[in-house]
Formats: sequence, C-alpha cells, structure tokens
Amino acid sequence: MTFTLPGTLLAYADRGPDWATWLDGLPGVVRGLLEEWELTLDGPATHGRTALVMPVRTSAGDAAVLKVGWPHGAAEHEALALQRWGGRGAVRLLRADPHRWALLLERLGDEDLTEHWDLQACEIVAGLYGRLHVAAPPQLRLLSAQAARWVEELGALDRSAPVPHRLVEQARSLARSFATDPATDGTLVHTDLHFANVLAAAEGEDERAWRAIDPKPLSGDPHYELAPMLLNRYGDYAGRLRDGVRDRFFALVDGAGLDEDRARAWVVVRAVVNVKGELLESAAPDKDSITASIAVAKAVQD
Ligand SMILES: Nc1ncnc2c1ncn2[C@@H]1O[C@H](COP(=O)(O)OP(=O)(O)O)[C@@H](O)[C@H]1O
Ligand SMILES: [Mg+2]
Repeated sequence: MTFTLPGTLLAYADRGPDWATWLDGLPGVVRGLLEEWELTLDGPATHGRTALVMPVRTSAGDAAVLKVGWPHGAAEHEALALQRWGGRGAVRLLRADPHRWALLLERLGDEDLTEHWDLQACEIVAGLYGRLHVAAPPQLRLLSAQAARWVEELGALDRSAPVPHRLVEQARSLARSFATDPATDGTLVHTDLHFANVLAAAEGEDERAWRAIDPKPLSGDPHYELAPMLLNRYGDYAGRLRDGVRDRFFALVDGAGLDEDRARAWVVVRAVVNVKGELLESAAPDKDSITASIAVAKAVQD
C-alpha cells in the first residue's frame, strides 16, 4: 500500500534526533499495522502536534482512523483511558498496540470546537466533564505525585525570573497543599481538553454529540481540567481579557457544578507551571505563552 506522510509532520524532524529517528521508522510501522489490522487507507493523513492520524476502513468496511503517536510519557495511558470511557464522552477505541503507540479509533467528523463561540464551547466541554470524570483505572499516574514534583521544580524559579515572584510562591503553596490532599487523586481526568481536542461525532449521528479525543490521562481531580480551555484561543479575548477569562471560567465551573475556589487554584498552579516549563525547560522560551499564562492566572483571581 502506498501512502505519503504529511510534509508538515516530517518537518518535526527538526525537533531533534529522537524525532528524526521516529519519523524515519514511521512508514514501516504504519505498513505493518495496516497489514496486521487489515485496514485500507481511506483519505489523506493528518496530524496534530504529536501524532500521525490516517483515515482507514476496517475489513468490515467501518470508517476508522489509525493514530500513531510520538512515544512520550503523557500519552502513555491514552488507550487505557479511552477503554475506560467506552465511547461515553470520548472517541471509541477499537484496538490498541501500546508498543507501537498505535490506536485504532472510530472516525469522528472534521468539525471541532475551534470555530464555535467560546462560551458555547465551554458549555459543551462542561457537559463532557460530567461524562469523563469517572473513577480512574488504578494503573494511571497520580496527580498528587505531579503536584509534589512541581513544588520542587517551581522552587527553581528565583526572583530574577520574568514572572511575578508572588505568583510563583502562591502556585507553589497551592501545589504543596494539593500534593497531600486525598481529593487530588482518584478521578480519571483528560488533562488536555481544549477546543481542538473535541470533535463532532461523524455525520448521520446526533449533531449535538461531541467527543473528546487525545487524552493525556491522570488519576486526578475534576477541578484540574479547566486550564486548557482558558489558555487556548487566547487571541479571542482581544480587548476584554479579564472578563473573557472569567466568562469562560464560570461557564465551565457552573456548567459542570465544580467548586469555584478549587478550580481557580488549579488554574493558577497550571498556568505558573506552564511559565516554569517555558523558562526552565525550553530551548527557546515562548514569550507569548508566558505572557498569556501570567495573564490568565491573574484574571481568574481579580
Ligand atoms: N477519531 C478521529 N476522527 C477523525 N479525526 C481525528 C480523530 N482523531 C484525531 N483526528 C484528527 O487528527 C488530529 C490529531 O489527533 P490528536 O489525537 O489530537 O493527536 P495530537 O496529539 O497530534 O494532537 C486531530 O486534531 C483531528 O483533526
Ligand atoms: Mg490533539
């Protein structure tokens, strides 16, 4: 079977030798999966920031997609989470091979939430929280352990870092209390639920059916989930940043029946952790992302 990988995906070889090696091996991996899983290609491949996604047909003729992801820890338990959801609120998993980081998924529609009015999108996503936030499978990593790590890592942001030190101290103290709070673990959370990771169910189904894709799952706290919905589509806030952030925040909190203070605390922690990631772990810190994260952490507290 002949196919071409998207040039924009192949360009990820720039990210480093690990990526180049993975991309080199990818055509062979895809060929093997198509053969073993008896799939035929059914349209041009696409991709996100970490995975190749190819529309395929199963031997029974069903429309599906083959997703082969870049091997990284955050995506490790994607199949486990999708299996736990069983198609309720999330894309249905048909088959998985963790060794090749490969998933066969039901095919959803092309439409995501990036073109919707942001508050309507927040209402839809708040509805998804209710379906996705079930008891976590025991194999998942614990959010409390991540919070404990962040307490240490945020300590490396000294006063000279271009972020208000008071905000860093606040995030650190919140992370410290989350790290020992029993309510921090136990619920299956998606952790990357933003506008582009919610797709409409395929044509012919109920037009109001939306499904989450692309989880980076943890055993966590439902209140942890909001930050990606406030940080993405940042440009849409335009001249009304404070109110825009707060409108989305309350649409999510009210729509999902969450505790306002706890949700706010996690937004602050996650926003400051983003800043830490840019400043301490990125070769070329993204100034816009730093500015946006600081602005969102402030706006939810104003
Ligand atoms: N089940 C699906 N049906 C249709 N399109 C999909 C499906 N899963 C993913 N896609 C498309 O592929 C893109 C990348 O997939 P995603 O799972 O989000 O991986 P990434 O980690 O690269 O963001 C999505 O933004 C979407 O356009
Ligand atoms: Mg994605």
